[in-house]
Amino acid sequence: TKYFALIPAAGTGSRMGNELPKQYLSLAHKPMIYHAIHTLCQSQWISRVFIVLAPGDTEWAQYDWSEFSDKLMVLYCGGVTRAESVRNGLAVGQEKAVINENDWVLIHDAARPCLTTVQLEKLMNELMNDKVGGLLAIPVADTLKRGDIHNRIGSTESRENLWQAQTPQMFRYHLLIDALNNATTVNITDDASAVERLGFHPKLILSDVCNLKVTYPQDFALAELILQERKI
Ligand code: C5P
Repeated sequence: TKYFALIPAAGTGSRMGNELPKQYLSLAHKPMIYHAIHTLCQSQWISRVFIVLAPGDTEWAQYDWSEFSDKLMVLYCGGVTRAESVRNGLAVGQEKAVINENDWVLIHDAARPCLTTVQLEKLMNELMNDKVGGLLAIPVADTLKRGDIHNRIGSTESRENLWQAQTPQMFRYHLLIDALNNATTVNITDDASAVERLGFHPKLILSDVCNLKVTYPQDFALAELILQERKI
């Protein structure tokens, strides 16, 4: 059984309020996407890392990626949604590298630059004998309020058994393809939810807050601090 990684990086990052897509914004002296690529390529288990870019991307080619040339494969086949980018990437990736039905694919967001090798290997170790797959996640720590249109609290929700989904999300190749093909008409925000719609129950693998998603400028500063601290 082989392991493949795929980074959907065809988004525009409009919530950062920036012209440059956020995966290219400079973070710890590199374009943000560099950090996820570095961690995934370092893993002995992962044989290829696919990068899915928007067809019109002109930024990727501005950087030197030669240090990853043995594993990296760049695909200009991004779609309108993240799910479509992943689906296109898996289809084109299959033509370029032989992916078998039962091989594992790990989908990871470029916007999670602080993933560590320890977290990555924990995910793979805990799922290697699983039939379905799963994802890194953390239990919800804050008290959850459901607000109304006036920002008045309508109710307090129990946080028991509630988790925040992270990436990588790791699934058998055939299952993820089926799930994404099946979920084309609905708006799904991660790969696990597509798999859930087929009736499967992906496993939650305990991660930590350091694997944060960079969405707003404040997240950016935090990610930079985390990465800098590790270099020391
Ligand atoms: O916008 P958001 O942070 O949810 O995007 C998550 C990831 O999905 C990002 O790495 C982004 O580049 C990617 N994406 C994509 N194709 C899209 C939209 C988002 O590959 N059409």
